[in-house]
Amino acid sequence: MRKFLTIKNKIRPFNKNITIEGDKSISIRWALLASQAKGKSTAINLLRSEDVLSTLDCLKKLGVKVKITKQICEINGVGLNGFVYKKKIILNAGNSGTLGRLILGLLVHSKKKIKLIGDKSLTKRDFARVTKPLEKFGANIISKSGKLPISISGTNNPKPIKFIENKGSAQCKSSVMLAALNTNGITKIKAKKSRNHTELLFKYLKIPIKVIEKKNYDYIEVKSPNKIENFNYKIPSDISSSAFFIVLTILSKNSKLTIKNVNINPSRIGIIKILKLMNIKIKLKNLKKYNGEKISDIFIKSQKNIKAINCPSYLNSASIDEFLLIFLLAAKADGVSYFKNLSELNEKESPRLIWGSKILNAMGIKTILTNKSLKIYGNPNLKIDKKIVIKDFLKDHRIFMTSVIAALSIGGEWKISDKDSINTSFPSFLKKIRELGFRF
Ligand code: S3P
Repeated sequence: MRKFLTIKNKIRPFNKNITIEGDKSISIRWALLASQAKGKSTAINLLRSEDVLSTLDCLKKLGVKVKITKQICEINGVGLNGFVYKKKIILNAGNSGTLGRLILGLLVHSKKKIKLIGDKSLTKRDFARVTKPLEKFGANIISKSGKLPISISGTNNPKPIKFIENKGSAQCKSSVMLAALNTNGITKIKAKKSRNHTELLFKYLKIPIKVIEKKNYDYIEVKSPNKIENFNYKIPSDISSSAFFIVLTILSKNSKLTIKNVNINPSRIGIIKILKLMNIKIKLKNLKKYNGEKISDIFIKSQKNIKAINCPSYLNSASIDEFLLIFLLAAKADGVSYFKNLSELNEKESPRLIWGSKILNAMGIKTILTNKSLKIYGNPNLKIDKKIVIKDFLKDHRIFMTSVIAALSIGGEWKISDKDSINTSFPSFLKKIRELGFRF
């Protein structure tokens, strides 16, 4: 049964402090790396969303002991190359591209054949982007045109590879880095800039890694460590989840919001740079560093004069999960905005470039869409006084949440399907909106 959410009213002015759940990318990486450490590792503030729970379920099938309480998650790591599992196991990555692609990296030396599956959305996504480099390590991978389901049988003697990552995909880069953990010799990666949580965790765990940062690419070298020590970690709040509340505040009337302890890793804050280019004031305070990751409180207010933007493509990767929200801002901007080189957006949980355009058109905003760009004719006086139905978007959590933000801040009568999709990345999303005073 598809659960619809109906919203008929805008949110009233608010002035609040909120906290947001743990970062999804870091939570998944913590769990995968904790499984490779020897002994008990713990995480505080681990995101309890379906993508992360799928990660823990996959690890359990691979013989890793996991204990979760309200405060903490404990993983009893099996050490490098230490997975112990039955014949013919099936790992289900659910909706998570990050889990599906990263875990394959840890399986290049798996002793028995493993099948990887996912949900309807994940089954449509491209896995050849990781299976190709992983095959070069020596793994035997069978799939139909690079899509799930995939079977992988590892090699007991993986060979280091040279890999050029050209899409700006942190998932591809990280998958190869994880494969390098169990490979003798040096794996060399030239990677177009993308989020660097894996690199930071490798450094924190003293895994031999060299990173040389150039303008558009990073040059990374990874060598297998003899052992990874168990470790404790505190996961900061997710900037991508925070972004929904940042944009809600900007587009609502007379409102203010503080979000505490958000991860502001430079490879993730494209949205903050884009806001500044759109003339939107945002403040970062109480800057801290935690094991390489930057963290701060974010202060944001309602904003009237939003400037249209010709968005520089170098910001694409650092804001890749926030574009649906950025398109909403462009819809209310004064002038025509242009977003380019964004074909990767159509490779997400649903084709998000197409959906961004569809949502705006439903709101009465003119757009010009190609397979890699979107032109948005902004209207600062935009008022919606019609019914809008958003459905059939492959349960993409970010489409659901962006539609809710549009309804609450711009108005109109919205009926949005697949309410449960929030559980993928941000289970407390609707609860947080209630904390701002809105009654569904
Ligand atoms: C992620 C990388 C990005 C992002 C995804 C999470 C990660 O995907 O869209 O939500 O944790 O590595 P790509 O690597 O496909 O760009």
